[in-house]
Amino acid sequence: MERDTTGSAKLRELQARPGGLGFGRYFTDHMLVMDCEEGTGWQPPRIVPYGPLELDPAAKVFHYGQTVFEGMKAFKWGSDGQARLFRPLEHIRRLNRSCERMCVPPLDEATVLDAVQRLVALERDWIPEDPGTALYIRPFVIATEPLLGVAPSRTYRFVVICSPVGAYYEEGMHPVSIYVETEHVRAVAGGVGDAKTAGNYAAGLKAQEAASRLGCSQVMWLDGIERRYVEEVGSMNVFFRLGDEVVTPPLGGSILAGVTRDSIIRLLRDWGVAVRERTIAIGEVIEGLRSGALVEAFGTGTAAVVSPIGSLHWQGERLTVGSGGTGELSRRLYDALAGIQRGELPDAHGWMATVKPEC
Ligand code: COI
Repeated sequence: MERDTTGSAKLRELQARPGGLGFGRYFTDHMLVMDCEEGTGWQPPRIVPYGPLELDPAAKVFHYGQTVFEGMKAFKWGSDGQARLFRPLEHIRRLNRSCERMCVPPLDEATVLDAVQRLVALERDWIPEDPGTALYIRPFVIATEPLLGVAPSRTYRFVVICSPVGAYYEEGMHPVSIYVETEHVRAVAGGVGDAKTAGNYAAGLKAQEAASRLGCSQVMWLDGIERRYVEEVGSMNVFFRLGDEVVTPPLGGSILAGVTRDSIIRLLRDWGVAVRERTIAIGEVIEGLRSGALVEAFGTGTAAVVSPIGSLHWQGERLTVGSGGTGELSRRLYDALAGIQRGELPDAHGWMATVKPEC
């Protein structure tokens, strides 16, 4: 398909609007589509103009939520003006792990990587270059079989759409307030908490509303059995700087294996910072805040990158984290990750995958 260079003009117009790009509001000109038919499996990818999908109202995705998604980012920099994807294979592998959990037939990783690269090459003019911006890529699979029996669908559609984005939170890199949810839970071990599937996010909306009423941007989830151990924060994994070490909840099946989480752990280890994946009780967090042992907390995610936590709302009390500002380690991690993604710092782990223009 011919590359249409009017993307950059449209992008400039969107960036000039009040509020700028925001997150996930605008979409590029094309999308990728692959269909899976019973018997023949996944068909070759097609890149088509961005537009509505026509689906049968009985399609299983509408009734039983058989669907998975991913989120990854592309950047553009350097004199060659080439696009770069951040750890695309890790995202595609996680997509397949989510598919496995949700009984969706796996996608061929090389085919998806090649097709996403072709889509990003085509949409290259839509990639914003200002600090804090990126092209957010949203792959997803939906169950399309029109049948109301509860069983895995026999047909699926895989779609990839792209959105030029700014910061996920209105606060940008400024500290967010987090509401600790003690009534509802997001997931339980053995459930689908470690799959990136729509229901996990729908299940969080009720608590998100309560958080918003209290002026908080996100919800901190506790474990589904004892409501005692910290799991994750809204759309992010969570880290605490406690004394001499950084701790983050372990991947026990109920939380998402964040690609950014993994990148942050590696960066911390590169710097010689002790980082431990271990269970952490909310009581320990609160005690750490009161005693001053807990000096920083931050969330990590593809959309949010590194997001400092300024305060926790716990059982009617608002507790400030550290000074309430952006902690020194959160800032250093954000700068390091954003620096690698924007080509300003060496990519020692080989995380950036260059997208060839002729893709
Ligand atoms: C991401 O960080 O890419 C996510 O998928 C979180 C999303 C809910 C915005």
